[in-house]
Amino acid sequence: MKDKSFYIENYGCQMNISDSNIINSILLKNGFVLSENLEKASIILLNSCSIREKAELTLKKKLEQLKFLKKKKKKIWIGIIGCFSKEIKKFFLKKKMVDFFVDSNSYREIPNFIHYSIMGKEYFNFTKKNETYSDISFIKTKQNDKKISAFLSITRGCNNMCTFCIVPFTRGRERSSDPYSIIKECEHLYHNGYKEVTLLGQNVDSYIWKKENMIQDQKNIVDFSHLLDLLAQKIPFMRIRFSTSNPHDMSDKVLKVISKHKNICKHIHLPVQSGSNKILKLMNRKYTREKYLFLVKQIRNIIPECSISHDIMTGFCHENEKDHQETISLMNEIKYNYGYMFSYSPRPGTYAYRKLEDNVPINIKKRRLQEIIDLQNQHSFYRMQEHLGKIEEVLIEGESKRNKQHWYGRNTQNLIVVFPKKSLNIGDLVHVEITDITSATLIGKHCK
Ligand code: 5AD
Ligand code: SF4
Repeated sequence: MKDKSFYIENYGCQMNISDSNIINSILLKNGFVLSENLEKASIILLNSCSIREKAELTLKKKLEQLKFLKKKKKKIWIGIIGCFSKEIKKFFLKKKMVDFFVDSNSYREIPNFIHYSIMGKEYFNFTKKNETYSDISFIKTKQNDKKISAFLSITRGCNNMCTFCIVPFTRGRERSSDPYSIIKECEHLYHNGYKEVTLLGQNVDSYIWKKENMIQDQKNIVDFSHLLDLLAQKIPFMRIRFSTSNPHDMSDKVLKVISKHKNICKHIHLPVQSGSNKILKLMNRKYTREKYLFLVKQIRNIIPECSISHDIMTGFCHENEKDHQETISLMNEIKYNYGYMFSYSPRPGTYAYRKLEDNVPINIKKRRLQEIIDLQNQHSFYRMQEHLGKIEEVLIEGESKRNKQHWYGRNTQNLIVVFPKKSLNIGDLVHVEITDITSATLIGKHCK
């Protein structure tokens, strides 16, 4: 094959961004060349997401567009990689729109999938169930040259089996990368210009690594609190973030480590999904409203400056007006800094899809969603006011998209801060006085 140019397009979450870096490294090491432009590439990889119906619809639309490119160019090969359901694979196979599919445990095999596809053959591989990719190092390219913030997966898969969620089916059982490879990779990222790393997992709090072939006493077990403590000391000049925390697994031990180290950012993403115990039980979330509220209290006791964000889903099976009001009252009690809100879409293969009735009409799902979005906007504005007049440490990430004369960065609470440029650089950690706010942005001026 003469033209080995490839292009990866991302759909979905931060984990997909970190997976795309792994795929980049695998392909670059195998003689492929990263193309800056989808139209110029001969291999197009769509890193898919199937967590909500909307992400799959976006993927379908993209493939419709690619049909035209396929007609225009002599030959291109299209692969769907990452997090896709059996149903979507069947759909695309039937339509003959995709040349190959690579699941999230088989990235090492992508060069083979491409070669076989070019020969017009199908490639079969055995999916590795315990794959962590912990030996694959990030490679700097033109595309990520100016980036200073990286994502690194520390756990893959999920064992929680929330009834609405497809992740345990698409990404498999949970497994953790070994702590030494995580430290090594963070140091590698730092030497490549990165100033911040976000440790990723569906449930980072259940990170656990046990040294093999040794009697497993305490010394040989590393849990999430140990990992954070270790990393904070090994990479003192890097900011450390993590996502996502599961309320069921988060411990005081972790909170104490976060409060102990300045370079561990003071932000916790703590999806709640619903404020109703009835719905939490139907979702198999393994915590109650009361336990969740207690955890928030603990976070605020141990790390008073910590911001808290959420995921909430409206219109899950059997959610009535009372359940919805319980979500609203929980939001009012906590007043989150920000959050991600969705209406429930059944995912084929999940327990909820098979066993629970999707019985909340779409217009009610949407109305409830709008109500919680409006409420969250009010709470975000309320929380932003707490920053007015304060001097905050901001890591500069780039130029503001709205105003090229302003820098854009984030404070430790993961809130966006913009301020007028003054001979500073991307990657600088600076002090900014907050002089104005919106519900989504802190506005300030650089102080010496
Ligand atoms: N429908 C709607 N939202 C979902 N999420 C996960 N599965 C579904 C679904 N079937 C949301 C949850 C989760 C976030 C990543 O996506 O809120 O925390
Ligand atoms: Fe899905 Fe629940 Fe696992 Fe999150 S914790 S990935 S919602 S099964």
